[in-house]
Amino acid sequence: MKKIKVAALPRLLIEEGAFKKLPGIIASSGYGRVGIIHGRTVWNRWGDDLCREFNTLDIDFLDAGVSGEPSPRVVDDIVTAWADEKPELILAVGGGSVMDAAKAAAAMLAESGSGGTKSVKEFLEGVGSMTPSGTTLPLYAVPTTAGTGSEATKNAVLSEIGGFKKSLRHDNYVPKLALIDPLLAVDAPLGITVAAGLDAITQLIESFISTGAGPFTDSLAVSGLVAAGRALPALLQNPENVNARAKMGYAAYLSGVCLANAGLGMIHGAASPIGAAREIPHGLVCGLLLSGTIRRILMRARAQEQRVLVRKIEKAAEALNSDIDQLPELLDGWLEDSGLPGFGEYGFTEDELRVLAGETDMKNSPVLFREKEIAEIFLERI
Ligand SMILES: [Fe+2]
Repeated sequence: MKKIKVAALPRLLIEEGAFKKLPGIIASSGYGRVGIIHGRTVWNRWGDDLCREFNTLDIDFLDAGVSGEPSPRVVDDIVTAWADEKPELILAVGGGSVMDAAKAAAAMLAESGSGGTKSVKEFLEGVGSMTPSGTTLPLYAVPTTAGTGSEATKNAVLSEIGGFKKSLRHDNYVPKLALIDPLLAVDAPLGITVAAGLDAITQLIESFISTGAGPFTDSLAVSGLVAAGRALPALLQNPENVNARAKMGYAAYLSGVCLANAGLGMIHGAASPIGAAREIPHGLVCGLLLSGTIRRILMRARAQEQRVLVRKIEKAAEALNSDIDQLPELLDGWLEDSGLPGFGEYGFTEDELRVLAGETDMKNSPVLFREKEIAEIFLERI
């Protein structure tokens, strides 16, 4: 049997109303001082209730808001501000960007020591020259969108627009707890919901057909695709469907577990240079590239008689309630129903997309594409 190695997994709680239990969970874990990193919308709606409960339980807290894709500067500012009154636990409440900023801040608060003399940029893969030691403050992740799966991964993606989009990564950075309360997500706008959902679905498909896939991640990827394949169409009909929100939360969590253990493919290899070039939601990039990439992988797998790969794409299609040949149309349909725009709306030009195709990493893709083919996939979505 091939070697199986599974990274640490966070404790998981998915429950309607679970957010209200969070202060009690933190108190019973023995933490008396919490640094909360949050998105603005969720804080406006739920922040007062959370603070009141922390006060009742005699838990000290600090808070910092994060919006947009996190940059090293955002992380450095939090680390500097909190260096002298360091929290014992970092709590992330928000979307993928918030969780990534919190994961990086938790690591850097422990890594840099008081004062935060080193920028997180120095520890980013392919950017800095330092290797993270893996020392980190414990992190509890409460995702408010179902997408990146950052609540289950060991990396934080940070970017500087016009510069880079790279990871801070260490096995120890996996959150200790992922708490998913579908009530936190019910009023998320449809466009954000679908873009995030297509990120999760892309991560599940890419890890399922990855060259790093194995039986452990395969079973989880299929379970996640079954949940997402029912939840996403239900949310397109009614974004306030709490049960569908919980299912998408489950699928996103599993997508994080799968990507951390099996790796990803060309779509995520393209998402880094595209996301570094202009401020465009990561989930939208995944959604725009998904069907074109799957269509070509399937064509190549059939032409080269890669039976295992064809069978896997068939299984992924079945999990999503589709036939293998209809899979690209199903994925296109979700994108079209949500009314999400193409690359052109974000200012990308054809020439720029051709250059970005040349910067795309194939990661663990089961099929290697030439630069010209990658450019074709991009240009279909301008
Ligand atoms: Fe992703």
